[in-house]
Amino acid sequence: MTGQPFAHRVLILFAHPALQKSRVNRQLVEAVRDLEGITFHDLYELYPDFHIDVGKEQDLLRRHDIIVFQYPLYWFSVPALLKMWQELVLEHRWAYGREGTVLRGKKLMSALSTGGRESLFCREGFNRCTIREYLVPVEQLARICGMEYLPPFVIHGTRKLTGPEIGRHAEDYRNVITAIRDDRINWEAAGLFPRLNMDLDAVIRK
Ligand SMILES: Cc1cc2nc3c(=O)[nH]c(=O)nc-3n(C[C@H](O)[C@H](O)[C@H](O)COP(=O)(O)O)c2cc1C
Repeated sequence: MTGQPFAHRVLILFAHPALQKSRVNRQLVEAVRDLEGITFHDLYELYPDFHIDVGKEQDLLRRHDIIVFQYPLYWFSVPALLKMWQELVLEHRWAYGREGTVLRGKKLMSALSTGGRESLFCREGFNRCTIREYLVPVEQLARICGMEYLPPFVIHGTRKLTGPEIGRHAEDYRNVITAIRDDRINWEAAGLFPRLNMDLDAVIRK
């Protein structure tokens, strides 16, 4: 058989500056890194010195149609290497601008964990803004590059999570990534929730 056996080619761009201390993302990574049809790309492992190979990263983007940024929320933003990746790889006239059309029609999703509980992310809460508001830079990056921005997969309150709870989130993440790959997400239903993993039964088609 030739050709692509799955509906979508999914690229997970993973950025965690201290993976040895990770409880949550480490398990999420274990849940998806060997999935068939998924390219798992660990930026801190590949570029510990921050010397990003721009051409290689652009090639990788060209070959996938759904891009996932996976990271822990650090100071309400992406970790530094993922920010640098955005600054260097998404070049003018390549990713955006009149001649920058390579990413048009692709989809972008964030998969992130936050130390803060979900209830803190609202106007009256300690963090004053919703998680979707903190993600506006990623959403706008997607728009400028002509990509569709998907609802994020978010795990809140990581400090209090027990081992079994983290295990369940990892299983959810695996199910979401597999469903994205196989085109089994009901994006219309998913758009009704602030985060994709709020009610997976409502958004994943069996
Ligand atoms: C330098 C640093 C900055 C952080 N900034 C935030 C933040 O802005 N908001 C938040 O909710 N959690 C923040 N956290 C908590 C992390 O998001 C949390 O520890 C992480 O998502 C847990 O995932 P892990 O077990 O894979 O490391 C921060 C943690 C560190 C170490």
